[in-house]
Amino acid sequence: MAGRIPRAFIDDLLVRVDIVDLIDSYVPLKKTGSSYVARCPFHTEKTPSFAVTRNKQLYHCFGCGTGGNAISFLMDYSHLDFVEAVEDLADFVGVQVPRESGAVPLKKNNTAEVFQLLEQATGFYIQQLRENKSAKVAVDYLKSRGLSGDVAREFQLGFAPDGWDGLVKQFNAQQLVEAGLAIAKEGGSAYDRFRGRVVFPIRDKRGRVLGFGGRVLDDSLPKYLNSPETTVFHKGREVYGLYELLAKNSKPERIVVVEGYMDVIALAQFGVPYTVATLGTATSKEHLELLFRFTSEIIFCFDGDKAGKEATWRAVLAAFPSLRDGRQVRIMQLPQGSDPDTFVRDHGLEEFEGNIASAQALSDYFFERLGRGLNLDDMEGRASLVDKAKAYLQTLPNGVFQTLMLEKLKTLSRIDKLDFFEKPTTLKQASRKQKQEDTKLSPVRIAISLLLQNPGLIEVFEQKEIQWQVLAFPGIALLKKIVEIIEKHPDINLPRLIEHFRGKDEEKYIHIMMNHEFFISGDEINAEFSGALDRLIDQGRERRLDELIAKERASGLAEHEQKELLNMLANRT
Ligand code: UTP
Ligand code: MN
Repeated sequence: MAGRIPRAFIDDLLVRVDIVDLIDSYVPLKKTGSSYVARCPFHTEKTPSFAVTRNKQLYHCFGCGTGGNAISFLMDYSHLDFVEAVEDLADFVGVQVPRESGAVPLKKNNTAEVFQLLEQATGFYIQQLRENKSAKVAVDYLKSRGLSGDVAREFQLGFAPDGWDGLVKQFNAQQLVEAGLAIAKEGGSAYDRFRGRVVFPIRDKRGRVLGFGGRVLDDSLPKYLNSPETTVFHKGREVYGLYELLAKNSKPERIVVVEGYMDVIALAQFGVPYTVATLGTATSKEHLELLFRFTSEIIFCFDGDKAGKEATWRAVLAAFPSLRDGRQVRIMQLPQGSDPDTFVRDHGLEEFEGNIASAQALSDYFFERLGRGLNLDDMEGRASLVDKAKAYLQTLPNGVFQTLMLEKLKTLSRIDKLDFFEKPTTLKQASRKQKQEDTKLSPVRIAISLLLQNPGLIEVFEQKEIQWQVLAFPGIALLKKIVEIIEKHPDINLPRLIEHFRGKDEEKYIHIMMNHEFFISGDEINAEFSGALDRLIDQGRERRLDELIAKERASGLAEHEQKELLNMLANRT
């Protein structure tokens, strides 16, 4: 498992796979001309604008703009992270993923040990709950909160006894500190972090324990103690209860997000086995993207107090960028003073599920909250609503939902001409538009786009005399980088080339340029590329000339500069 995947393996994988076969196995494709098309799986549309090209080994949607290589497709379509996508792709091709062992940094190496220790600690705490005499208070506490033995087992609840060295006696102190289970003292020893608490193991989606939450048994403070961030535990990315949820249903119709450990557990016991909790942190975009891998609907059900209401609003705003078509967020508000745990106990399953079914649509919630305190009967109130809504709505992905939100804003504000989104385009419109824009593209962009799409053009490039230092134009650094990569890997193709930029700042530009359609072929490509380079060289020369002339006027030129200037003037065409 551990260890980096060698880059050469990824390169090789991308050479072996045919993206048309791969995507066709998920989304049936139809051949038209040189590409294969389908209705885009990433947004809702009536006519196909999703195209896959075999010679480029890429896909691109002219409607919503997504695109990439075989790895990006699996990441987007199956909601995988990079490593998981490589693993799936290897499966598809029928090969095993090798791992580099020697070159792995030390940190990575002991990840496995940290996981193992966390697993052992889970076992230790469970055993303590069952066998330690002093655990009676904990058992009584859990009973008093109405928890069944079954649900306690399912969530692997345990007990951290009230000493300083329960774990420290059994395991390596240094490793316990690394796993977040103990706190270091001066002189190299350590003491247990969790003491006299019921502990809740927090597991990732694969079931590995990442850390713990621990609750006191009375009303002392702090009520909950959580593992700190460690090499394996990142609160902003993990939710409590996901593993338990997926174990029961890997494709739930909806997931309810609540605030507390006890809420998740009580709801599971009462027959709502599809809830998760954030870990005492605000709901993040990463949390939501994680959940949307498994479901298309998320319902926020936070505590019915001031903090819960604030958290709801922030969670809704965090959700906006993830709300592409086919995904939905709704809001279930609880009465003042309730949390999901007390609500389901007081009102029962039926009423809870009834409230889920009638949970508020995000659009209603959003405009209600935004319009609070504004008088929509007067012009100023309505203008202020538009003003407030604009920035938020712009964070929504293009699509039907975005359009609906805009329509709603128009109705509420009674302003008909609101228009702050870029229009999605059809395949035909897109190519027409791009053809017109080609003439406006700078030579750097043309050169980059063409070279990305046809790395073989490096031969044309090498025939030119490029002096990088003279070409201080925007984009030149990226062109240089691409040239260097191709020179190092002469038989590289586009899908492998773009892997070099995954996660880098330039990725966005690479993406735009690799998808630029030129509508030319064969020799025309060579000519276009060569022409773009010539224009670049000319521009560089003109610029250097201006520089030298200006310098001569201002302060005079050094001898070598004078030579350079004369030379340039003599060679000017
Ligand atoms: P709540 O105080 O709403 O917890 O905090 P709860 O789940 O209703 O607790 P019970 O019912 O009294 O047992 C919600 C979440 O905030 C985090 C925990 O993750 C908790 O589940 N929290 C709360 C802390 O991390 N530390 C605290 O001291 C309190
Ligand atoms: Mn509670």
